[in-house]
Amino acid sequence: MANDNQNLEKLTAAKAAINYVKNNDVVGLGTGSTATLAIKELAKRIKDGFKITGVPSSEATKELAISLGIPLLALGKVSSIDVSIDGADEFTKEFNLIKGGGGALFREKIVASLSKKRIIITDGSKLVERLGAFKVPIEVNPNAEKYVMIKLKKLKGTPVKRIENGKAFITDNQNYIFDTDFGLIDDPEKLASELNQVDGILAHGIFVNLTDSILMAKGEEIISYHKSI
Ligand code: A5P
Repeated sequence: MANDNQNLEKLTAAKAAINYVKNNDVVGLGTGSTATLAIKELAKRIKDGFKITGVPSSEATKELAISLGIPLLALGKVSSIDVSIDGADEFTKEFNLIKGGGGALFREKIVASLSKKRIIITDGSKLVERLGAFKVPIEVNPNAEKYVMIKLKKLKGTPVKRIENGKAFITDNQNYIFDTDFGLIDDPEKLASELNQVDGILAHGIFVNLTDSILMAKGEEIISYHKSI
């Protein structure tokens, strides 16, 4: 559970990210508690006359955006996004992330892949030296449940099917999530490419080369990491 300081930092990061959104932009809307704060800030701007179109990365974000009066385009119908704002579960200064704590990783990855400018916002607790203390969420087609378990074990992972309220967690795409412990990950790019090759995995939560800027709040201060092009 986030404490008051973390919540304040999430809000500080969310407010900072909004400055990267321009009038008439198509904006990728992330999922999770930090992205939610950014979406609420965007909605305030819209009330002040700002025009944007949102592209939601989950059903939860879609409902939130609709409730706030943000005009939306469906992710599957969009070929380019100007800027996206999303949270992360862990990040390194090399711009590698673990995402998917909320189970929205597949659509979040598509949003990031379509975006010209990808901004990640976090509180001060998400920066790590090496990814992997947070177990890697992996979205798995139920028909490949046992097969993917075997493959993940071969990759030295320890997968645990995510359970919520006593039942298997089901994603927006009707799949399972396996939270998979790989220990601390030496080479995220290599692991990402190995996971990409397993049939039955729709997406995994290792995000490599999908981030341009990270805005991390520490107290009321913003520490920014910008990828040089
Ligand atoms: C959702 O699937 C995730 O990728 C979130 O972006 C991530 O879990 C960060 O969530 P918080 O902002 O709630 O920490």
